[in-house]
Amino acid sequence: MFSETLRKTREYEQTFGECIDREERPSFHLTPYVGWMNDPNGLSYYNGQYHMFYQYHPYSLQWGPMHWGHVVSRDLLHWEYLPAALAPDTPADFAGCFSGSAIALPDGRHLLMYTGVSRVKDADGQERDVQNQCVAVGDGLNYEKCAENPVIDGKDLPKGFSQADFRDPKLWQGEDGNFYCVVGNRPADGNGQILLFKSPDGFHWEYDRVLIHNKGHFGKMWECPDLFRLDGKWVLLTSPQEMLPVELEYHNGNNTLCLIGEIRDGEFFPEHDQSIDSGLDFYAPQTLLAPDGRRIMIGWMQNWDAPLCGPEQKWMGQMTLPRELSIRNGRLYQQPIRELAMLRKKPVEYRNVTVDGVVTLPDIEGRQVELELTIRPAAPDKLYHSFAVQFAQRDGCYTQLTFRPWENTLESDRSFSGTRRAMLHQRRCKVNGDNGTLKLHLILDRFSAEAFINDGEQTMTTTFVTPQDAQGIRFLCDGAALLDVVKYDLSE
Ligand code: FRU
Repeated sequence: MFSETLRKTREYEQTFGECIDREERPSFHLTPYVGWMNDPNGLSYYNGQYHMFYQYHPYSLQWGPMHWGHVVSRDLLHWEYLPAALAPDTPADFAGCFSGSAIALPDGRHLLMYTGVSRVKDADGQERDVQNQCVAVGDGLNYEKCAENPVIDGKDLPKGFSQADFRDPKLWQGEDGNFYCVVGNRPADGNGQILLFKSPDGFHWEYDRVLIHNKGHFGKMWECPDLFRLDGKWVLLTSPQEMLPVELEYHNGNNTLCLIGEIRDGEFFPEHDQSIDSGLDFYAPQTLLAPDGRRIMIGWMQNWDAPLCGPEQKWMGQMTLPRELSIRNGRLYQQPIRELAMLRKKPVEYRNVTVDGVVTLPDIEGRQVELELTIRPAAPDKLYHSFAVQFAQRDGCYTQLTFRPWENTLESDRSFSGTRRAMLHQRRCKVNGDNGTLKLHLILDRFSAEAFINDGEQTMTTTFVTPQDAQGIRFLCDGAALLDVVKYDLSE
């Protein structure tokens, strides 16, 4: 039933995936079965399980012809590897099966929608890549590509719309029973735009309209759109390329963008914009609607321009923890999924610890831990200069988050985390410091730290490749601060 290409892929990943020990991977963050992984794809709940697919090049630690890797889970924390779902093996996608989404069809089948990359020859004989939208249906394990692929052909787009940048369909079923999808694209001016398509059945699609045009505000091409209702608002998530920095909210290069607003007459009107995560390693997030109504998001925990890889590492790319989304005061809030509480062991708690210099605390250490920190000035009228938490620390190694209450910034710094390359190591964002008071909820898992700031008002995610024996956690204050700490070990 499946192609020779996919059969070989499945054989390869099983042989080499099994050679990677559990301890060589993060404990509760997803890594590829083997090889390279980027964007999460096809997040969906189907036949009693959560399914996640991912952009996948099993054959090396670098990006290459894209396949779809596949995992399933019952709790969004423990993932089981299934054989690769898609390989680039048909005329419509021989140059790659790019990002896309999935949905349970009313007839019980699982529908995958993805971007098929192929090549055409111009009149002058020059070959160029084109991107079209394709579908495949299956039973949660094996998927058959539709013989009519591509089901949305770039040639049907309005004049001037790019066929080379036309990707990442995110589909859903509307209340009217129709299927809809949003797709990233570029109009003739080279900026990003999001297109809307409509289908009665998920297989036959027609172009509907431009949902929103970037107008040069947020970078160029908009990748990986996701559109959903949340807490009475419309939310559009997308990952813009080629951005120029805007203060500390947006940085150079690939960013992630959340627009919150309204849709009127089919057009999206943003009322608020924010970057989704202010750390170094977060891109191409996708959401799913869980059966209990939670809107849950997972992002690719890596940076296109600064991909960290340890010397012994046998996989490349991690996903963030699934995060629960909500909107408060016009902002997107994120919380680690509540299922994480199941992994908590050995609670340790300290209240009102004075930090004036370097402080370590008994039992506050480890690389798979959850830390809830509340920091405030030791004396109400005396603001400290900076407060830092160092983790994955030992000898000269550490990764650090530094809060500077005079400027209300939080900085993540992984310069001392074992990398030997002159790539990005630091990033800063503005935070609501409230006179030297800040809440930091930190989740560490061997190769990463996800920080949820002020109850999820912001997040800052970073990866690092520090040797695993660097287990220390310490607190440093220039001035004097009071610290509350709650810590749990997180074990599988
Ligand atoms: C985003 C992205 C998508 C594309 C995929 C290719 O990281 O560039 O736009 O579909 O990666 O792997």
